[in-house]
Amino acid sequence: MRLNVNLQNGNTPAHSDAPPQHGNSRLPPNDRYDRVAVWLHWLVAAAVIAQFLTGWIWSFFERGSEPRFYLFRAHIMVGSAILGLAIIRLGWRLTHPAPPLPAGMNRMMVRASKLTHALLYLAILVQPVLGLVSITSLGKSIGRWPRELHVTLSFVIAAIVLLHVAAAFWHHFIRRDGLLLRISPHGRAPRAA
Ligand code: HEM
Ligand code: HEM
Repeated sequence: MRLNVNLQNGNTPAHSDAPPQHGNSRLPPNDRYDRVAVWLHWLVAAAVIAQFLTGWIWSFFERGSEPRFYLFRAHIMVGSAILGLAIIRLGWRLTHPAPPLPAGMNRMMVRASKLTHALLYLAILVQPVLGLVSITSLGKSIGRWPRELHVTLSFVIAAIVLLHVAAAFWHHFIRRDGLLLRISPHGRAPRAA
């Protein structure tokens, strides 16, 4: 069996073939995202989900109706906050590297996870910019394409988020490698079998 000891924390055998056994304790600090990264992740995740809800629910209300107006305003406010948080988050990520991936992930899985994360970062930057451009005079002068791209991208982003969440659950419940705990505010390791 291939076994490379993770020299970064000296506790967990990283990149061996078997998922690590964390016992009943908290994950070692070097095996999880730091507090700021964790809170930024969940804040942005909740805000992105709110954007899908507002963006899709307002179409059930008549044009000019009050609920549609408030949902639209909430969409613009939360969407603009996402842009600010995304810039902070990207800055944080570039100066605070992610913990090493759990043991036994093959090269394709590692690439797929890196690509998905990069696309999600891109999404939380590009989508609010398109939204903001489409409601300003700049948007009106360059035509409807930013708005149309924003709507099309919302489906693409929804698919990537679903894939991301499915992968997280697969790691947690099927592979049981503690991946979800790396980004959980509590970060408790799974009970030993
Ligand atoms: C219920 C929903 C979600 C769950 C369960 C979830 C779960 C996770 C987990 C477990 C990780 C850590 C992966 C690792 O350790 O390598 C992660 C990272 C990440 N998630 Fe989510 N996530 C959710 C929603 C979202 C949403 C909506 C977005 C943004 C649109 C997002 C963007 C990211 C990004 C960019 C990373 C990489 C963090 C980094 O390495 O800097 N997630 N997520
Ligand atoms: C990550 C952030 C965002 C996400 C995930 C998002 C998502 C969505 C979704 C799901 C829709 C409905 C698409 C449909 O009709 O099927 C929508 C529409 C829209 N969004 Fe966003 N949005 C975001 C940010 C913003 C921002 C910051 C603004 C403006 C300041 C904005 C402005 C709009 C507008 C004007 C529409 C209506 C487009 C139309 O129906 O012609 N969005 N967005």
